[in-house]
Parts: sequence; structure tokens; C-alpha cells
Amino acid sequence: MGTLTGKIALVTGSSRGIGQATAELFGREGATVVVHYRKSEAAAADVVARIRDAGGQSFALGADLEDPEAIDALFTTIEDRLGSLDILMANAASTAFKPILDLKPHHITRTFDVVFGSLVHMVQRAVPLMARDGRGLGRIITVSGHGTPFTLPAYATIGAAKGAVETLTRYLAYELGSRQITCNAIAPGVIATDSARYYMGERYDAFDREVTAQTPLGRIGSPDDIARVALFLASPLSDFVTGQVIRVDGGLTLASGPFENMKHIE
Ligand SMILES: NC(=O)c1ccc[n+]([C@@H]2O[C@H](COP(=O)([O-])OP(=O)(O)OC[C@H]3O[C@@H](n4cnc5c(N)ncnc54)[C@H](OP(=O)(O)O)[C@@H]3O)[C@@H](O)[C@H]2O)c1
Repeated sequence: MGTLTGKIALVTGSSRGIGQATAELFGREGATVVVHYRKSEAAAADVVARIRDAGGQSFALGADLEDPEAIDALFTTIEDRLGSLDILMANAASTAFKPILDLKPHHITRTFDVVFGSLVHMVQRAVPLMARDGRGLGRIITVSGHGTPFTLPAYATIGAAKGAVETLTRYLAYELGSRQITCNAIAPGVIATDSARYYMGERYDAFDREVTAQTPLGRIGSPDDIARVALFLASPLSDFVTGQVIRVDGGLTLASGPFENMKHIE
């Protein structure tokens, strides 16, 4: 018996990175996992195959989360094939990395649609499928980011959108608590994924060394680091936790700028 045996989970953006690691861990822990992707159909199929090879149940569904009709189709298929849903992890995100003065209206609209608007829409479709037939607690897990409490270059739009996600997480916890549905956010630090490599470009290796040096736990994060916290939030271990933002960064955010150069005093 795994921690999530008998549960049904949708992990958005699980063709790659954090979503992939979470989908595979949820599958190993006994959940039936809907692997969701936008373009990476072959990668999503590989994730499904690994879950099945490990003895789990899984299938993949594609949907562009910028498109409300695609979200409706995604949930209609889940309802038709599985009948209910226990865990929604809203992980997928995309944006254009641009300084504020270079932003065009569509950069803002598209980022907020995929990060914030899709979350509202998915929750509206997921909640009626949760806690059906005495299945127990429903779980919503959102994903924030390092660029919300802190400023990063060219990161304003998605940083602000994730700020809205953190606020919505608290409102969801407040409004859905009476239905025995919890909602919590994970705020990853720097995690070694495609998007981190894309964001840093050719500076990625140097950046990895700098993050490692400034992180008390002495390394950059891995997708598995986030997946394990998602498992905690999806499992009965977190039954009484709701409305929280859990930072998972190895202590990176404890570093205090110029004082890092004074470590010789220790
Ligand atoms: N990596 C980090 O350092 C870091 C730090 C803090 C927070 N985060 C957050 O953690 C989450 C996952 O990040 P990651 O680095 O694992 O991302 P990633 O490797 O770039 O993967 C992004 C996933 O989201 C999907 N996706 C992107 N746009 C989509 C859209 N419009 N509709 C549907 N799916 C879409 C992608 O699908 P396709 O593969 O089909 O394109 C992919 O599965 C994001 O919310 C990110 O903001 C990451």
C-alpha cells in the first residue's frame, strides 16, 4: 500500500521538470495519475510508461491552459474516464521573461491566463469531482516561485502572477475548507529544470555554483525535492494543513546579501 493508494491525481505540466517528478512519485505511491502536457506529448508518454512500469496506473492528456475550452475538455475527459478526482496539483506555468518597460499587453494576459486564470477555472471543474462518495479530503496544491517574495531580472509578470496564486491559495483554503478540501502552495527556490536552464541561458553553470555557495544546505534543488513536499501535501499526513505557502529552497532565502561575504567571521 502506498501513501496515495486509491487516490486520483491530476498534475499539470507533468511532461517535464517538477511536474514529471511529482507525477512519477504519486504513481509510485499508488495514485492513478493523469499526466498533463501542452506540447511535449512524447515526453508525457514516457512519464506514463515509467509509472506503469513501476506498477501504477496513468494516462496522458494534452491541454493548453491558456485556452478555457481546452481546460473544459481536459476535465470532461477525466470525469468520463475516472469519475472523480482527489488531488489537483496546478504546476504548469509559462511566461515571457522581459523587463517591465518592454512588456506588451499579450505578455501580461498570456502569463496571467496560464498561471492564475487557469487555476480558477480548473478549481471550478475539480471541486465537483472531489470528495465524492465519501472519498475523503480533496487536495489542491499550487506552485509559487522565488520571484514572488524577491525580485529577479525580467521576472515581474510571472512573479506578480505567482503572488496572485499565493493569495488565491489562501482564499481557496478559506472557501473550500467546509468541503474538507485543503489548498496549499509550494514555493520552490532554484530547481534544476529546463525552465531554470532557459532562464539563465549560458550563465546556468556559473549560476548553479553561486546558488550552491549561498544555499545553507549546499546544493541547487532537484525536482524530487519538490515532489516529496507535494506528496506530503497530497497525503493524509497534512490533513490539518491548509492555506499555507511552504518554501522549499534549501535555505537559499535565508541568505542576506552583502553579509554572505562575511562568512569568515563564523
Ligand atoms: N525550476 C525552478 O527553478 C522553479 C522555481 C520556482 C518555481 N517554479 C515553478 O514550478 C513549476 C514547474 O516548473 P519547471 O521548472 O518544472 O517547469 P518546466 O520544466 O519548464 O515545465 C513546464 C511544464 O508546464 C507545461 N506548460 C507550460 N505552459 C503551458 C500551457 N500554456 N499549458 C499547459 N501546460 C503548459 C509544460 O508542458 P510542455 O512540456 O508540453 O510544454 C511543462 O510540462 C512552475 O509553476 C514554475 O513557475 C520553478
